[in-house]
Amino acid sequence: MKTIVISKFSAAMFAAALFLAAGMVGSASAETAADNYSLYCVQCHGTAGTGKGINAPYLAVAPRNHSDAKAMGELSDANVALAITEGGSAVGKSTQMPAWKHNLTAAEIKDIVAHLRKMCKCTGAAK
Ligand code: HEC
Repeated sequence: MKTIVISKFSAAMFAAALFLAAGMVGSASAETAADNYSLYCVQCHGTAGTGKGINAPYLAVAPRNHSDAKAMGELSDANVALAITEGGSAVGKSTQMPAWKHNLTAAEIKDIVAHLRKMCKCTGAAK
């Protein structure tokens, strides 16, 4: 009898843990790409993504204009994702473009790449 009580209790604990885990996943995905962009990217790239954020005048290299279809179109989605994940140095660009892998998940970065494609109204180069 006692074991039944314990197993019911642990089943309830397991259900509670699942519920909490589901809640955590839910709140993470509620952070949309646009929200993440306003949180992490606008200070350099600007609210309109034109590379004219409040920090831009103080950087040695101008931040990429994300609304520039030609410049953004020359970069593949993989290159853009790598630049965001590992920072500018990983793609032979300025180290003033930070790495975001500590702040954003791979899924969030993928969503930001899609968001950037909407901003430039362009598709990425094949490679
Ligand atoms: C501290 C300023 C700063 C912040 C914050 C910043 N960037 Fe950048 N970013 C730069 C600079 C500077 C460059 C230009 C690097 C170059 O051309 O050498 C750049 C370049 C890029 C590029 C082009 C990479 C390439 O291969 O040409 C992408 C894409 C990009 N940033 C995305 C982002 C995203 C997305 C965020 C937010 C998650 C972000 N950046 C936040 C400064 C910043």
